[in-house]
Amino acid sequence: MRKSTVIYYSQNGTTKKIADAIAERYGSDVVSVEPRDAYGSYFSSILRAGKELLAKDYIEVTTLPADLEDVEVVFVGFPIWYGDMPKFVKDYLVKCKLGERIVVPFATSGANGIDKAVKTLRTIAPQARIRRPFISSKKEKGDLVRWLEGLDVQMTKE
Ligand SMILES: Cc1cc2nc3c(=O)[nH]c(=O)nc-3n(C[C@H](O)[C@H](O)[C@H](O)COP(=O)(O)O)c2cc1C
Repeated sequence: MRKSTVIYYSQNGTTKKIADAIAERYGSDVVSVEPRDAYGSYFSSILRAGKELLAKDYIEVTTLPADLEDVEVVFVGFPIWYGDMPKFVKDYLVKCKLGERIVVPFATSGANGIDKAVKTLRTIAPQARIRRPFISSKKEKGDLVRWLEGLDVQMTKE
């Protein structure tokens, strides 16, 4: 039986719904990544996240690095920001030391895909075995159950 953890960030609950569904299906531990300072409204988030991308400074989170000691599969979820994963999620994941684990990315967006974020994930976790990602956008809703059933990850709910 494989132990899994779902690490995710969700500002407005869209990505959280997917995180919850995955955790429910596999009995996963759940880690919600919380930035130290909330991003606030859509407009202030756009401004701040844009500046953070340019500044490249480390962004503080209040969440401790996930304890992945006995965990084989890590689901990683986030909203797409500026075509990629939010910068602070990237900073946080670096601290989690994903190593050679199976990593399964998922994201929600307005319209963009997840490919750029998967590339980012590869730079953070070059040894990880990254599985087929899931994206659901306002333009095109993904089929979550079909994706989960098609994943090459054998897991049983605890
Ligand atoms: C700062 C910011 C940047 C965003 N950038 C993009 C983007 O580049 N492409 C896109 O399709 N959607 C973008 N969005 C929309 C979010 O990805 C989308 O609303 C997502 O589903 C929100 O998920 P959540 O409810 O879990 O926070 C952006 C939203 C915010 C707040």
